[in-house]
Amino acid sequence: MANRQSLIAGNWKLNGTRSSVVKLASEISVGAGSLGVEILVCPVSVHLADALTVVGNSPVHLGAQNCSDAVTGALTGEVSADMLVEFGCEYVIAGHSERRALFHESSEQVAAKCLAVQKAGMTPILCVGETLEQRETGQVETVIASQLDALLDVGGIDAFRQLVIAYEPVWAIGTGKTASPEQAQAVHEMIRERIATQDAEVGDALRILYGGSVKPDNAALLFSQPDIDGGLIGGAALDAESFLAICEAAATTSDSAPIGSPAR
Ligand code: PGA
Repeated sequence: MANRQSLIAGNWKLNGTRSSVVKLASEISVGAGSLGVEILVCPVSVHLADALTVVGNSPVHLGAQNCSDAVTGALTGEVSADMLVEFGCEYVIAGHSERRALFHESSEQVAAKCLAVQKAGMTPILCVGETLEQRETGQVETVIASQLDALLDVGGIDAFRQLVIAYEPVWAIGTGKTASPEQAQAVHEMIRERIATQDAEVGDALRILYGGSVKPDNAALLFSQPDIDGGLIGGAALDAESFLAICEAAATTSDSAPIGSPAR
């Protein structure tokens, strides 16, 4: 089995001011030390430059919450992947359920964004997940499969080499309702198997994060599941103490290599 390094990513969503982002990023950078997990923070795009001044000299990585699939053009309000690279971004979240639901992003658009992110040299965090209704009507596997297949169709298995997946059941996001470790593990295993049937090595190396109401008190149980390689954290990522406690839970439950290994 591949030795997958745990990743804990903070999705700060539409929150913060220039000064609060610097404060939060500083507190996380100081606490990140040598925890042995990879730590990522994703502020809004206009706060990236401020965040970079802090995390640029720390083990904490920087990511964006979204980007355009286009490189340039008459696309008012959009931000391209190349522009994010200039601000030190190494990751971009693609297809978060809020963007799928509120901004009507289709799986095809999300797949195009993943390819644009990779082309710019960054790693997409592809979010997948079912709604409560889809779960209750037995559609979990079909929904997730179609979200994955949209990328497989345009990028093939190669698109999964430099990619992280975040399984985020929509009903668990910001609701305080977490998937049980067993529920989450079952979906993570299904995702890995689907990719592994295309290429066993890619499936084995693929990092799959869980997201949806991860808190310091439920993180360790989730992260100790064999196919859960970390978390995408929303609410609890806005408080340095909670976020670092979640990072610590990942450090104590993983068999990751010590930090310092990822190229920066
Ligand atoms: P939450 O958000 O941790 O607040 O549920 C997770 C996410 O939306 O990525």
